[in-house]
Amino acid sequence: MRSKRIVHTPVLLHEVLEGLDLKTEGSYIDATGGEGGHLKEIAKKVKQALGIERNKEQLARIQELELTNVVLEKGNFAEIEKIAKKHGFENIDGILFDLGLSFWELVHLKKGFSYKKDEENLDMTLDETGQEKASDILNKYSKEELYEMFSRNAEEPKSEKIAEEVVRQRRERKFVNVSDLKRAIDSVFGAEDRRVYSRIFQALRMQVNNEKENLEKGLEGAVKILKIGGRLVVISFHSVEDRIVKKIMKKNNMELITKRISRYDDMSFERSATLRVAVKKI
Ligand SMILES: C[S@@+](CC[C@H](N)C(=O)[O-])C[C@H]1O[C@@H](n2cnc3c(N)ncnc32)[C@H](O)[C@@H]1O
Repeated sequence: MRSKRIVHTPVLLHEVLEGLDLKTEGSYIDATGGEGGHLKEIAKKVKQALGIERNKEQLARIQELELTNVVLEKGNFAEIEKIAKKHGFENIDGILFDLGLSFWELVHLKKGFSYKKDEENLDMTLDETGQEKASDILNKYSKEELYEMFSRNAEEPKSEKIAEEVVRQRRERKFVNVSDLKRAIDSVFGAEDRRVYSRIFQALRMQVNNEKENLEKGLEGAVKILKIGGRLVVISFHSVEDRIVKKIMKKNNMELITKRISRYDDMSFERSATLRVAVKKI
């Protein structure tokens, strides 16, 4: 039985479709299928598209849309070259990366992605490729490794203090669920701070899923399979990701034709999405 679908509004839909410069006969890839929001609209305008999605439950949600002209693959976009080749997608006209998690995953996977779900276990794995769970990392990493993770992935100014607190608290009790991590953060700040929760949870999720390395590999692979004149469209949600996007576009001599920052409210604090559209020149 189909689960009731929440109406999903894809981020920056109009700008993404314009950025991809869709042509009926063209060849397009959505590297982050998610709820299929962008993919569904792409599929209306082109003959054939390829969708990649790492999470199996999320992939099942796209399959429910029954997009007959879309080939779907469960996989990691780090392998985009291989996946495209497998399905005969070459000389691609446009590739989309809409990074992070979908709202549905945050709410339904129950893996401790969100600081708002105190009782959920700190798992944070997006697929079954054998990564360590978030709780394993918190219970095992040295203070220095925790510090590196929080400061590099989240640029959290109090990373050192939070790392110290994690190590101190786990001597008394292992980290299991979301509230355990919030307790350690609260001890450093003396009060609840949702911005810090958000940054630290994100840093941990990035570590569990190897997100920075996957993004670098995925973007490099995408540039290789784009045709000259093909478009790379990327939506990122924090500066660490955006810096990687910018670096890879520049390194490959791509021409940036759009940069747009869109601010939105997320439960009373402001967040932003950065869209970059670049064209392959050589
Ligand atoms: C923000 S959502 C995409 C939403 C989508 N554009 C839409 O309109 O419904 C990002 C999706 O990318 C998936 N994802 C994250 N990392 C991935 C990776 N390395 N390879 C493939 N998919 C990934 C997540 O599971 C999530 O479903």
